Amino acid sequence: MLDKLLSEKLSEIEKNGLKRFLRDVDSSPTAKIKFKGKELINFSSNNYLNLSGNKTIQQKALQIIEKYGFSGTSSRLVSGNILIHKELEEKLALFKNKQACLVYPSGYQTNVGVVSALMTCHKEACIIMDELSHASLWDGAKLSGSRIFVYQHCDMNSLEKVLKRTQNYKFKLVITESVFSMDGDITPMKDFVNLCKKYEAVSMLDEAHSTGVFGKQGKGIADLFGVGDKIDITIGTLSKAFALQGGFVCGSKTLIDFLINKSRAFIYTTAISPFLAAVAIESLEIIKKSANQRKHLCNISKILKIKLKDLGFDTANSNSQIIPIITNTIETTEKLSAKLLKNSIYALSIKPPTVPKDKARIRISLTSGHSIKDIDLLINSLNKT
Ligand SMILES: Cc1ncc(COP(=O)(O)O)c(C=O)c1O
Repeated sequence: MLDKLLSEKLSEIEKNGLKRFLRDVDSSPTAKIKFKGKELINFSSNNYLNLSGNKTIQQKALQIIEKYGFSGTSSRLVSGNILIHKELEEKLALFKNKQACLVYPSGYQTNVGVVSALMTCHKEACIIMDELSHASLWDGAKLSGSRIFVYQHCDMNSLEKVLKRTQNYKFKLVITESVFSMDGDITPMKDFVNLCKKYEAVSMLDEAHSTGVFGKQGKGIADLFGVGDKIDITIGTLSKAFALQGGFVCGSKTLIDFLINKSRAFIYTTAISPFLAAVAIESLEIIKKSANQRKHLCNISKILKIKLKDLGFDTANSNSQIIPIITNTIETTEKLSAKLLKNSIYALSIKPPTVPKDKARIRISLTSGHSIKDIDLLINSLNKT
């Protein structure tokens, strides 16, 4: 009975060209991967600073596993608060220039856990968010049961209109991302923080795709635009530039204390592994010193965007290492992805509901491990008929 119902649903998904499936890759997800026995250039990872498999981090991981073992083994409130968790949080708070930090097992859980917990702090509360916010932010917002208002993507006039309409709410949480995960464009940070201040709203910024990549020492977009101190709540993940696993939130000491008491996604789960916490500290130190890698990443991103535009491709308003090639229809995107694969390029198609209907795309995600030669190979493959 269950399988029959599920098969019907799956057939429907397949009929609409939206079936997802796992691809077996036989290597670490760096700039080159092994897929079906063939070496491919990988444009589909978030390994922005090429730290996945980094030898220094690997050595550290081995030492730490000997000391702490593999697992947190329980919630940190029960018995899992190993000193290395505390050390990582102190270092991340310092990195983001905030009073305190709390680490979760993933970035997804961080967003769900933070947003849903925060909305319990006032009865007359609402959420205001960019329409293209990541699924984890949406899921946290929906789980909270609060009223959700949406503003047009990256449009500060639209945000102001919503803020005017919601003036009667006593607590307003405004959520955005610094670099958007599927479009690679950037929230106008100064206008964003000014509007939040003007309408007495609390600001929350997800820096998943900008941490490590932008700003002094890789602190992120808020730091780059000099508005870090005006953001109330900063989100980061350990799974992208850090090339590990986990997520974190930074803010005031009171915020972190509140989350330790009210955030179910933190309370009712096993802590991240102590060895991950230790290697995250190592990763953070490397990130801070990776100015050359950031410069290279920024350069190749600019070059690729120019070359794609010259070929007539729509790269939306990308202003980062994430560069969409928007083909609109699912069929065109699938065909393009298959053509690239034939040319030893791994660049997957992104379809609804991850992106809006009729906005299917190839999402090119560059890392400092890519070379100009890789960019040229991509361009030549796209250029082939
Ligand atoms: C903007 C944004 N926030 C949060 C997440 C979730 O982070 P994680 O992969 O660590 O769960 C992602 C991941 O894709 C993301 O793009």
